[in-house]
Amino acid sequence: MVRTVIRGVGGYVPERVVTNKDLEKLMDTSDEWIRERTGIQERRWVTTQQNHELGLEASRVALSRAGIGPQDVDLILYATLSMEYTFPGSGVLLQDKLGCRTIGALDIRNQCSGFLYGLAVADGMIRSGLYRNVLLVGSEVHSTRIDLSTLGRDVAVLFGDGAGAVVLGPGEDDSKGLLSVHLHCEGKHHDLLWIEGHGSLFPHAEQVRVIQERRHLPQMDGRQVFVHAVRRMPEVLQEALQANGLSIQDIDLLLPHQANLRINQKVAATLGIPESKVVNNIQKYGNTTAATIPLCLWNALDEGRVHDGSLLAMVAFGSGFTWASALYRW
Ligand code: UT7
Repeated sequence: MVRTVIRGVGGYVPERVVTNKDLEKLMDTSDEWIRERTGIQERRWVTTQQNHELGLEASRVALSRAGIGPQDVDLILYATLSMEYTFPGSGVLLQDKLGCRTIGALDIRNQCSGFLYGLAVADGMIRSGLYRNVLLVGSEVHSTRIDLSTLGRDVAVLFGDGAGAVVLGPGEDDSKGLLSVHLHCEGKHHDLLWIEGHGSLFPHAEQVRVIQERRHLPQMDGRQVFVHAVRRMPEVLQEALQANGLSIQDIDLLLPHQANLRINQKVAATLGIPESKVVNNIQKYGNTTAATIPLCLWNALDEGRVHDGSLLAMVAFGSGFTWASALYRW
């Protein structure tokens, strides 16, 4: 059986570091509140870079680690919720800047679960024999679309900018690679974490009113998101383990979405996974949404935490609600 394998991983975060103390100057918040409630100490925000330019940097690293060039890429999958324009998507901008052939570029709109949704799409295409080298990117520029006044503080302090990328392709044998991806959604909760006022429900004549009512900004019921996240993430991980005849003890490294350090601590405690096996980067990057899991993988590789044969468990939860898990044998 052909399995999808990761041939190269890349990550990129903007140089500009924004600390909690910096945010204290912009809104009524405190370093203590942010650290205690979320675990975040600092995040990276762009100065002038666009979303696809972050994706470009991460992709260059991933391609070079995979030992291939832009001309070898057969398909781009681009997961983001913060694309430059409503249309076209960021994937076509990356195709141009990276210098790929006129290959397909598909944008994935599944927010915090976007990378794992993209992984499922890539897996189907690779295992069916349709494509050999698939470039999957998760990239976000949140900082240009958050309210930096006290009114927006519940959302503003959480998010950071960054990008991660992987090159995927068919493996040599079935002992290594992607074991499974499990995807879910529950759309009745779509309005608990969303940007309401950009879509076709709002005729252009109403845009001024939408902006006055602040409905063009991200809105979140943080408590509800928290409650659902700590239930769904363990559930979908158990589903993946069961489908593969594996148990919690088999997991070598857990790479969870980074929305809140407390969410990840609760998920690990619920499952009985020691913190030494959990990769967290929210402390330095905040929540980078679709970029989070590939950035965690990139960090874990650089820190020497991934070994031949390691079982990696990836899990995400976010807007939609959507949630997903993937198991990968390195
Ligand atoms: O990728 C998915 C994206 N999002 C998430 O997963 C978010 C999940 N939820 C969370 O992480 C947490 O719910 C938050 C960190 C967002 C909030 O923590 P909380 O412990 O649930 O706080 P809360 O919303 O109940 O607010 C407590 C207080 C409120 O003040 P009052 O009403 O008690 O006077 C808020 O107004 O904290 C206030 N508050 C803040 N204070 C200082 C909210 N945001 C801030 C802030 N700084 N940034």
